[in-house]
Amino acid sequence: MSPRDYEIDELISAKRIAARIEGLSREICDTFAGTDQLVVVGLLRGSFVFIADLVRELDLPVEVDFLEASSYGDAMESRREVRILKDLSGEIGGRDVLVVEDIVDTGFTLHHVLGLLRSRGPARLETIALLDKPSRREVDIKATWTGFEIPDEFVVGYGIDYAQRDRNLPYIGTVRFT
Ligand code: PRP
Repeated sequence: MSPRDYEIDELISAKRIAARIEGLSREICDTFAGTDQLVVVGLLRGSFVFIADLVRELDLPVEVDFLEASSYGDAMESRREVRILKDLSGEIGGRDVLVVEDIVDTGFTLHHVLGLLRSRGPARLETIALLDKPSRREVDIKATWTGFEIPDEFVVGYGIDYAQRDRNLPYIGTVRFT
């Protein structure tokens, strides 16, 4: 693999992420208190770290499922076309569902995924996004819960990649090309 031609500056530390997840988890538990079994749906691949930390803070019966949607490929600009690469394994009709997204940028991915899931008749459908870049929005959509609003910078880490690299960083960083 070629060496990185960019530097990464820490934007949100692992400690801040953990504290925010703890707070958001309490709100989610209050919202879904009494739910028989919450279906927590992670959007692959970017949400795999976030969902792992989030579900371990949820004091609720949960089922974990995944859906893989892709809007970027390896490019930095959205293709504005969302493809479903892997569908859910389980049924969500009549059930409470929480969709977990790493970042909402243009909003196309979340919009498309929510439309698809809504068509299956869940009892309740809510969303959580760790990061939100409102300045980039092209579709009028907002997650029920947001971890951090961030400026229009290219970010990596905590599950988020640049050309499939750096998903394993424990913090969120901004990319600075050198
Ligand atoms: C990224 C990110 C979000 C989506 C946000 O996914 O994980 O799902 O783009 O962008 P949008 O709001 O403009 O639609 P990507 O398609 O890069 O796949 P990945 O999660 O596998 O990295």
